[in-house]
Amino acid sequence: MNAAKGNDGMGNLRTVILAAGKGTRMKSDVPKVLHEACGKPIVEYVLDAAKAAGSLKTYVVVGYKGDAVKKQLGSGPIIVRQPKLSGTADAVRRVAGHLKNYRGDVLILCGDTPLLNKTVIKELVGKHKNSKAVCTFLTAVAGDPQGYGRIIRDGHGKVVAIREDKDALDHERNIAEINVGVYCAQSRALFGALKRIRLNEKKKEFYLTDIIDLFYQDGSRIETVTTEDPAEGLGVNTKEDLAVAERVIRDKILKNFMRDGVTIVDPATTYIDADVKIGKDTCIRPFTIIEKDVRIGDRCVIGPFARLRPGVRLGNGVEIGNFTEVSRTKIGNKTLMKHFSFLGDALVGSDVNIGAGTITANFDGVRKNQTKIGNGAFIGSDSILIAPVKIGNKAVVGAGSVVTKGKVVPDGGIAVGVPARIRARRERG
Ligand code: UD1
Ligand code: CA
Repeated sequence: MNAAKGNDGMGNLRTVILAAGKGTRMKSDVPKVLHEACGKPIVEYVLDAAKAAGSLKTYVVVGYKGDAVKKQLGSGPIIVRQPKLSGTADAVRRVAGHLKNYRGDVLILCGDTPLLNKTVIKELVGKHKNSKAVCTFLTAVAGDPQGYGRIIRDGHGKVVAIREDKDALDHERNIAEINVGVYCAQSRALFGALKRIRLNEKKKEFYLTDIIDLFYQDGSRIETVTTEDPAEGLGVNTKEDLAVAERVIRDKILKNFMRDGVTIVDPATTYIDADVKIGKDTCIRPFTIIEKDVRIGDRCVIGPFARLRPGVRLGNGVEIGNFTEVSRTKIGNKTLMKHFSFLGDALVGSDVNIGAGTITANFDGVRKNQTKIGNGAFIGSDSILIAPVKIGNKAVVGAGSVVTKGKVVPDGGIAVGVPARIRARRERG
C-alpha cells in the first residue's frame, strides 16, 4: 500500500514544496498558497500529492507571511524559511543545508499547483529512477501557454532549456509545451547546478528552470513526462485561476461520491468541500452547500437549498430539508428538520422532529452556547431555543414558544408560550 515502504525504490524520496511567494497577481493580503479551493488551502493538495508519491520527508519553503503558512501546515512537513523572495532557484537552495548528507532524489513541487495528478507524479518519479536521468520534469501541452515556461527542444526532440514567458522570443511564445513545475532530480547534481545559476536581469530573480539549461550544457541526461490532461498543470496565479481549480476539484469530489453510492441529483448546483464524508444512499438535492469537516451517515436526505457548515455530524436516515442551516451540530439517527430552520452548537438526539422555523439562538453577543435536545423530542414550529437550554427526551416544545436561557425541560416535559412555561409532564389527551 504505502509506496514509501514498498520495494519500488521510492522510499528514499525527499520533496521540496515552494510556497514562499506572495502571489502578487492574486491582489490579496493572504499568501497565495493559503487560498482555498473547496474549503482546503491549495498547498494542502500539493502536500497530499507528495505523500502519495511516497515522499518520506517534505520540506515546505515559506517566505511571505511564513508564520501563517507554517501554522496552517502543522507538524507534518519541515518548514524552511526563504528570507528574501529571490526566485524559485533561491527557494530550493534554502533546503540545501537540510539535505547535505542526502544522496537520493529530490522531488520539487510548486505550492500553487493543486490539480497535480498523483499517478502522474509517481510515473515521473518511476521514469526518473529507471532512466537514471539527472533530472526528469513534467510538461503539459497547454491550450493557452501564456505565463508558463516553454519547453525548448532541439531537432532530435531533446530538451535544451525552459524559457520563461517573460524571456521568450516571438517564435518561442508559440510553443504549446509548458513547464508544470514538477521536477525530480539527483540531489547532488541539483544543488551543484543551483550554485551556478545566475540572476535573471529582467525579473531580478534566480530561476529554478535554468537548471535544465545547465544540465543540457553538461551533457547530463534530462527526461520529461507529459501529462495527458493539461488541466492538471494549472498554476494558480490569479483569482480566475483559483475559480478554475475550484471547479475541477469540485467535479472530482462529486464524481467520487457518486462512485461510492451517494446520489447527487444535480452536480451543477451542489457544492461539497474536500474531505467531507457521506454514507451510501444518502441523497443530496440541488442547491446544497456542504462545507469542510462535515460527516453524514447513510440514507440521509439533504436539501434542496441546505447549508451544512463545519462541525456537523449526522447519523443515518436524517433529513435536512429546504432553507436550512446547520453548524457545529451533532444529530442522531432519523431526526427530521425539513423546513427553514437553523441549528448551531446543538446536540440533537435520534427520532427528533425539528418543526418548521425552529431557531437555536446560540450566540449571546459574547459567546456561543449549546442547545441539547433529547431523543424523541418534538420541537413545534417557529420555536426559539435561547442557548444554553436543554430539552429532555420525548419532551415537547409548543409551536411559537421561546425557551429562554438556562431552562431545562425535563424528560417527557412540555414547554409552551413566550417566555415558555415548563410543565414536568406531557399531558395525555
Ligand atoms: C513557475 C516556473 C514556470 C512554470 C510555472 C508553473 C520558474 C522561474 N518558473 O512560474 O516555468 O511554467 O511555475 O506553474 O520557476 N516561490 C518561492 N520563492 C520565490 C518565488 C516563488 O517559494 O522566491 C514559489 C511560489 O510561492 C510558487 C512557486 O514558487 O508556489 C512558483 O512561483 P511563481 O511565481 O508562481 O512562478 P511562475 O511565474 O508561475
Ligand atoms: Ca505559478
